Amino acid sequence: MSVQKLEPEKHITTKVLYAMKQAGEKIAMLTAYDFLTAKFLDAAGIDVILVGDSLGNVIQGNETTLPVTLEEMIYHTKIVKRAVSNALVVSDMTFMSYQVGVKEAITNCGRVMKETGCDAVKMEGGDYIAETIRRVVEIGIPVMGHLGLTPQSINKFGSYKTRGTEKEEADKIYRDSLLLEKSGCFAIVLEKIPAKLGTKISKSLNIPTIGIGAGANCDGQVLVTHDMLGLIEDFKPRFVRRYASQANDTKDAFRKYIRDVKEKKFPAVKESY
Ligand code: KIV
Repeated sequence: MSVQKLEPEKHITTKVLYAMKQAGEKIAMLTAYDFLTAKFLDAAGIDVILVGDSLGNVIQGNETTLPVTLEEMIYHTKIVKRAVSNALVVSDMTFMSYQVGVKEAITNCGRVMKETGCDAVKMEGGDYIAETIRRVVEIGIPVMGHLGLTPQSINKFGSYKTRGTEKEEADKIYRDSLLLEKSGCFAIVLEKIPAKLGTKISKSLNIPTIGIGAGANCDGQVLVTHDMLGLIEDFKPRFVRRYASQANDTKDAFRKYIRDVKEKKFPAVKESY
């Protein structure tokens, strides 16, 4: 019997995720930025919904996640939280909303928690952010870490290539994961790193790892919902599995509607008053 099923009415908490790892039960996480998607995900039984700053790419059409503002993240997280009864809702802290210093991070994480009602925040980065995470967790805000490919650092990396393929960088990611656990993170996203490194980190930590392109041995998996629904046609990294072809279906529906209007086939009598 699954950890969740033992307490069917219970909202997923960070403690439930921890218990899932100990029980060997995988954690399923996807992104949402709007009410309906969040409602469908919650009804389907997703464990964690991430209001990711990937909304900068898939909703706003930006090249990177950097332009997303704290106000925009608060707006989308509020909408998502309104739709959710069971899943744990995590809001991404936006670029420059937590990097300046501990005081700013606490103020901004506090705003996100108070104004959206979300359950936790997520921050990208390793050693340089560890003390900030420790202080934010200490005041009662659960933090999910994020290591490996961290899209907010794209201008430092220069590309979206796999991280940790060289020993030096792999060792650094490993050390950072231990540090984030020590700082109080309740889980860590591992993005685009070799499966071997994902396994090593997942085995070493007591807290769950959530992989995206980090292999099958992570304690959970996350994808950007728009990618797994096949809505984004020109982005298909190896780690994305498409579970639907919604781009094709949507375009087809739009073409059919336009045709019906032009050919005076819509509305029919039964669709009129
Ligand atoms: O912003 C996001 O959607 C993310 C996931 C890819 C983990 O950080």
